[in-house]
Amino acid sequence: MSPVVNRPTSANLAVVGAGYVGLTTAACMSSLGHRVVCSDINESRIDGLRRGDLPILEPGLSELVTSGLGSARLRFVTDSAEAASSADFVFLCVPTPISADGGADLSFVKAAASQIRASLRPGTVLVNKSTAPAGSTEMLASLLQRPDVAVVSNPEFLRQGSAVKDFLEPDRLVVGAAERCSAQRVADLYAGISATVLVTDAASAETIKYAANAFLAMKLTYANSVAAVCEAVGADVDDVLVGMGLDERIGVNYLQPGPGWGGSCLPKDTLALIESSAEAGYDFGLLRSVAEANEAQFDRIVAKVAHRVTLPGARIALLGLAFKAGTDDLRDSPAVEIARRLSRAGAVLYAYDPAVIESAVTESAITREIPVVVAADAYEACRGADALVVATQWPQFQQLDFDRVAQLMAKLHVIDARNCLNREALQRLGFTYSGVGR
Ligand SMILES: NC(=O)c1ccc[n+]([C@@H]2O[C@H](COP(=O)([O-])OP(=O)(O)OC[C@H]3O[C@@H](n4cnc5c(N)ncnc54)[C@H](O)[C@@H]3O)[C@@H](O)[C@H]2O)c1
Repeated sequence: MSPVVNRPTSANLAVVGAGYVGLTTAACMSSLGHRVVCSDINESRIDGLRRGDLPILEPGLSELVTSGLGSARLRFVTDSAEAASSADFVFLCVPTPISADGGADLSFVKAAASQIRASLRPGTVLVNKSTAPAGSTEMLASLLQRPDVAVVSNPEFLRQGSAVKDFLEPDRLVVGAAERCSAQRVADLYAGISATVLVTDAASAETIKYAANAFLAMKLTYANSVAAVCEAVGADVDDVLVGMGLDERIGVNYLQPGPGWGGSCLPKDTLALIESSAEAGYDFGLLRSVAEANEAQFDRIVAKVAHRVTLPGARIALLGLAFKAGTDDLRDSPAVEIARRLSRAGAVLYAYDPAVIESAVTESAITREIPVVVAADAYEACRGADALVVATQWPQFQQLDFDRVAQLMAKLHVIDARNCLNREALQRLGFTYSGVGR
């Protein structure tokens, strides 16, 4: 492990996949001085990006894309083979969703590698940034059948909502490969970024990513379990978790109670680690319990609503749909999971999220399963509601005029699944308040 003090390099990069990770990688790498060609099979996405229209919401990303396009250091194409043909390094940033057996579905990674295989120049380094289990780097090398191309694992740790900042100011860079010099060449691409660099073997790099995400999931579940204990014994979870987290061996980050964890990474990565461990002969029982406890957490939130209102026919205002504040991503969102369970119990849902527009909800699979009306603003969602559920921690929700909310709602019940509202102020206005462990 060493602090990054590498010489500045300017290389030709191809980035395959223009989603959260690929687009952030492409834009940030071009801002570091590299010439980047980013490809995606989604033609409308590439058309938009060529005009500077971003398909995702990420602070600072639009500016970097505009500047990259302006300097011609960033280009967008639909043909990955074309992008790869002039690259010194090709980054794979394609999805690794959950497969039917709970493991990582590597079909996108394999398809992308097959598409570029023949066009890679000798000496090119293929860098896998998609989250993939131990053994995937070796699998890619044997799929390529190109001994003249090195394959390196370089897992990405960015968080949606702060992707650019996390990419440019990471806690660490992890690069793994059979040949240390190929891994070091990839690390050198990040010259200019100040971070501790861990160069290791490929299986260790791949395992670091899964082990880190599963640990974060476990920490969140621990906070939720402590919250349940606090409710049972009459303690206040906010004080308890601060008191715990101030111990520097524990730390306050990710020690927050909530509706259960979700998003595009924690659920699939936790399940994939359980699955890949089982395949390798280890039963990761601890993580299986964590995943089960997280499912139960969604039900605990629904039970809090049911404690206040009779769910069949109840009109519920749901504030928040995105899986966290700062993003418009609905993938595996806890808010959507709670909406699903409330709807199954017969509730009628009116939802509002500052970043999620109605068409995104309508076009996603969600509305086929959950009849949710997307309101124009929070007040509209609250009109006539029997209970208000806060499911995503948008700061805007704290600033609402709750006098007005109280006038609009039919019954004054608040279920604050993020512990983000002012309990005393709401109670003074006549609301009942249910938080998590408060
Ligand atoms: N989203 C995150 O916060 C995050 C963080 C760290 C790691 N990861 C990992 O990074 C990987 C990508 O995640 P994401 O969130 O960026 O996914 P995403 O769905 O946002 O983007 C993936 C993109 O790849 C494109 N694509 C698929 N197959 C392709 C192909 N053959 N050629 C070119 N483009 C192709 C898709 O059209 C899509 O635009 C996953 O393995 C994920 O687990 C994600």
